[in-house]
Amino acid sequence: MAFILLLVMLTACAAAPEDLCGQMLVFPEQTSKANVVLTTLEDNFSAATVCFRSITDLRRAHALFSVATSSEDNAFLIFKTSKTNEIEFYVGGKLVKFGEQDYKLNEWQSICATWDSETGLVQLWLDGKPSIMKYIGGSKIEKFTALLGQDQDSLGGGFSSSQSFVGMISEVQMWNYTRSGCDIERYMSEQNYLPGNLINWRSLEYKLTGRVLLNDAQKSCPKRKPYGKGY
Ligand SMILES: *[C@@H]1O[C@H](CO)[C@@H](O)[C@H](O)[C@H]1NC(C)=O
Ligand SMILES: *[C@@H]1O[C@H](CO)[C@@H](O)[C@H](O)[C@H]1NC(C)=O
Repeated sequence: MAFILLLVMLTACAAAPEDLCGQMLVFPEQTSKANVVLTTLEDNFSAATVCFRSITDLRRAHALFSVATSSEDNAFLIFKTSKTNEIEFYVGGKLVKFGEQDYKLNEWQSICATWDSETGLVQLWLDGKPSIMKYIGGSKIEKFTALLGQDQDSLGGGFSSSQSFVGMISEVQMWNYTRSGCDIERYMSEQNYLPGNLINWRSLEYKLTGRVLLNDAQKSCPKRKPYGKGY
């Protein structure tokens, strides 16, 4: 009986995953504090696809998705530089740059990134448009912290306000394998897609620190097709 009671208490204490469908994270100011730690369902990965939707007006450099380990702060990092339309991708501390990316300001966009340690290739997708593939290498990433809003320069910390994210982020998904272009297109066009098996926006454990808020996603209503022939 005491054991059952203890079990009940334990489950009550554990943070339950939440369905954040229709919600977004708002990072309303430049700060070196506000961040969101995302709990992943596995503690290691050797390949990944990360997708999220974001909007910002930042021209300066800012982190979009930061994974750090105790030995490598840029274990897996998607970073917008201050150079127009340049996005950096780090894996295991190694860097590749993607140029001439159509990174929009003041507009929601879908960003996906894939990496596979077997081939060592990385690729970016902005609003479903693929970049070229580039070689980065890398090996298994384990015992990490996945975080939004800041660039980690140490495990879970070492933030700098000049690299912080200001804006909104929604629908973060992460898989421990590379998804196909068709899958990414489905994500982008908000069709039914298989949710992430490392991070699932529809069943997410997370921790908010500092001034960052969960808010309704304020999506515009779907456009009605005009009546006419064929309807
Ligand atoms: C990595 O993940 C696998 C399953 O996804 C698990 O079996 C293993 O224990 C994890 N840890 C390490 C250090 O490989
Ligand atoms: C990917 O994650 C799932 C659980 O979400 C796990 O069962 C599987 O072993 C992982 N695959 C690899 C290659 O680590």
